[in-house]
Amino acid sequence: MRPGKRTKINELLSTAPVGEKVIVKGWVRTFRNNQFIALNDGSALENIQVVVNYEDLDPSILKRITTGSCVSITGEVVESQGKGQKIEITAKKVDILGDADAEKYPLQPKKHTLEFLRKIAHLRVRTNTFGAIYRVRHAMIFAVHKFFTEKGFYNIHTPIVTGSDAEGAGEMFRVTTLDPANPVKTDSGEVDYSKDFFGKETNLTVSGQLEVETACLALSDVYTFGPTFRAENSNTSRHLAEFWMIEPEMAFYDIHDTMDLAEEFLKYLANYALAHCKSDLEFLDKRATEEEKSKPQVERNELSLLERLQFVVTNSFEKISYTEAIDILRNSKPNKKKKFQYLINEWGADLQSEHERFLVEKHFKRPVILYNYPKNIKAFYMRQNDDDKTVAAMDVLFPGIGEIIGGSQREERYDVLKQRIEELDIPEKDLWWYLELRKFGSAPHSGFGLGFERLIQFITGMENIRDVIPFPRTPESAEF
Ligand code: 4AD
Ligand code: MG
Repeated sequence: MRPGKRTKINELLSTAPVGEKVIVKGWVRTFRNNQFIALNDGSALENIQVVVNYEDLDPSILKRITTGSCVSITGEVVESQGKGQKIEITAKKVDILGDADAEKYPLQPKKHTLEFLRKIAHLRVRTNTFGAIYRVRHAMIFAVHKFFTEKGFYNIHTPIVTGSDAEGAGEMFRVTTLDPANPVKTDSGEVDYSKDFFGKETNLTVSGQLEVETACLALSDVYTFGPTFRAENSNTSRHLAEFWMIEPEMAFYDIHDTMDLAEEFLKYLANYALAHCKSDLEFLDKRATEEEKSKPQVERNELSLLERLQFVVTNSFEKISYTEAIDILRNSKPNKKKKFQYLINEWGADLQSEHERFLVEKHFKRPVILYNYPKNIKAFYMRQNDDDKTVAAMDVLFPGIGEIIGGSQREERYDVLKQRIEELDIPEKDLWWYLELRKFGSAPHSGFGLGFERLIQFITGMENIRDVIPFPRTPESAEF
């Protein structure tokens, strides 16, 4: 190792260069007996132990080595005398790079609740739990691009500011430069968006799908991976107002090809995490098992986090139609005993997360893909089936999460799509280009959207979606 150059802790731990002089830099997790620093630089979950000889050290420096402070250590790598680590560093020199007021530093070496940590989102990444989550998140971003690159897909950047409502749900954040107190008005007294920045009404996108379809009908296999925004007022452990979505779009795929791709993709991601995030996942597994103990017996997971990941990798997903699912739910115990909050009485009902979780966790005990949903509960662009009642939609349902993926075959027939847009009163002026794709060389095609944070919830075992994104945006909360 080059003298004068800092070595990262993960490299030291894996190469264990006993006898060498090194420089390490990082944040003090604990400082015991004025002698042992547990130092972490985020390169790994593990800390390196630094042994300082306090008799040699300037007492003014010694005082400044506190939990949270940032230090640079020059020292020698030695075999560790103590238990729990192979090597440690005998410090020759300690420089304080950044003090942490020991009395005011909010992260003490003790267990903090996740609720408390959400209030200090600027510091929570310095805990083992959040360090592990951030590293796993990075590994999953990389694995997404690797999967699609290996399959010959092209990554397309789709716009964040859009003029159309992809999901037709109307839950959008407006983008405008008009003065809210005094907007330009038309003669009839309405806000005149033709005078707005883009000359029309615009919003933050809820999905990159419509735009990525344009690339699909030229490059065949494409995907977009970007932030999406939904102004739905649902304060749940699975909803964010700003989340990241991966949306592949494939020419010449029907709904069954698409379900197969979704299954292969999720298995690949779980497998990648198991292979590349071992110590972080082992830590998160222990953490999740610990959390389970505070739950009533009936609500506890039968499988540990690592077992759940392994289970997804090795077992095939159950694929059933919406109609079959309704039959199962209608005759299920919680429906008959009126335990569901929303009872399933008839075909056509929208499924709630309690129903999705029943199918996955109690009935099939494995991931489930539901397909061919009633057209009235799904988006306008989904391909209509010959029965005139259903569309070629599919949702992938996961244990503990519910819907992790939503997708469909797209309506590629111009007349059918146009009629559906009219039936639903969707303003055609915003979608003329989307319709035009069906006029010029239309092709059967399909795609889906994977909610990236729901994936990270599954991979890390974190129960609240606010804990798997660095800065969660939820109703009444955008502090950081
Ligand atoms: O089912 P959704 O709404 O589908 C679409 O947006 C399609 N355009 C996707 C496509 O076919 N290209 O959303 C897809 C996924 C959901 O299954 C869920 O995992 C996630 O996005 N999702 C959310 N994640 C966090 N917070 C929210 N508010 C979410 N809404 C959807
Ligand atoms: Mg959906």
